[in-house]
Amino acid sequence: MFKIIEKEELNKDITLIKIEAPLIAKSAKAGQFVVVIVDENGERLPLTLADWDINRGLITLIFQKTGFSTNKLGRLNTGDNLAHILGPLGHPTEIKKMGEVYCMAGGVGIAEVYPVARAFKEAGNRIIGIIGSRNKHLLILEKEMRGVCDELFITTDDGSYERKGLVLDVLKDLFEVIEKSTHTQYPALVYCIGPIVMMKAVADFTKGYQVKTIASLNPIMVDATGMCGACRCKVGGKTVFGCVDGPDFDAHEIDFDELTQRLKTFKEQEGKL
Ligand SMILES: Cc1cc2nc3c(=O)[nH]c(=O)nc-3n(C[C@H](O)[C@H](O)[C@H](O)COP(=O)(O)OP(=O)(O)OC[C@H]3O[C@@H](n4cnc5c(N)ncnc54)[C@H](O)[C@@H]3O)c2cc1C
Ligand code: FES
Repeated sequence: MFKIIEKEELNKDITLIKIEAPLIAKSAKAGQFVVVIVDENGERLPLTLADWDINRGLITLIFQKTGFSTNKLGRLNTGDNLAHILGPLGHPTEIKKMGEVYCMAGGVGIAEVYPVARAFKEAGNRIIGIIGSRNKHLLILEKEMRGVCDELFITTDDGSYERKGLVLDVLKDLFEVIEKSTHTQYPALVYCIGPIVMMKAVADFTKGYQVKTIASLNPIMVDATGMCGACRCKVGGKTVFGCVDGPDFDAHEIDFDELTQRLKTFKEQEGKL
């Protein structure tokens, strides 16, 4: 059993929980995820490790209540137990000193980019954070991102906070400045995580500049151990499994259209739950 030690509603859609899971906390690395089974009848729910505390033996999960299982998880309170947690799973993000790294995220993806930005910062990189949400109230982890980014840009779709627009608009502006400048350089890496449409747009844009871009994918997962094939995606023309080969992939090689189609596979059944 895995006990919930803390719970915080970050906004009306997104909840943070800290759970007692000392063995997972001990081996967690940026970019990895866990599979949660809320109760004995529950389905397997992949969630990114947003943070971990080895000393207290806690892991932090931040999730958006989008459907059956995330709503069920959101109804649990401090002191309640989760039936099972499997992890850490997936390859950690490849962290090394590269120079300047842009860390981009939208929505609940900010929770997923935060440990990656922190790890790149700890490795000695300069971090430019570009995060966005639909409106001011849905923005999460601004303080935490400010703590690990050398510069942080924030966008809201409706302009209710900071810049009105999309994270891609900021990226385009930054690249335009670099293009005109004689002394600034394109980043060594752009790392992005969020809705497929956002990651695809970022990948399409950076491809023109040949700037290395990594996207963290979130295909439908069932076993998350490479056995069932539910999470298969096409990258560079080859079939890969998001759970064991990813979740990070070269964004310029990902077949985002196929991924979008596959994410819709169980939409009708999910609606009936
Ligand atoms: C490796 C990985 C890490 C993830 N990390 C997080 C995280 O840290 N926080 C978080 O909030 N979510 C994360 N997700 C997405 C999360 O797993 C889904 O939102 C969840 O499975 C939906 O389950 P549900 O039963 O609540 O909703 P469902 O009723 O199953 O679905 C509700 C809606 O969510 C969509 N959906 C279903 N599965 C996924 C999926 N895998 N990715 C995106 N959308 C999906 C459905 O198409 C539907 O529109 C992650 C997914 C993966 C694969
Ligand atoms: S979820 Fe089954 S192979 Fe990846």
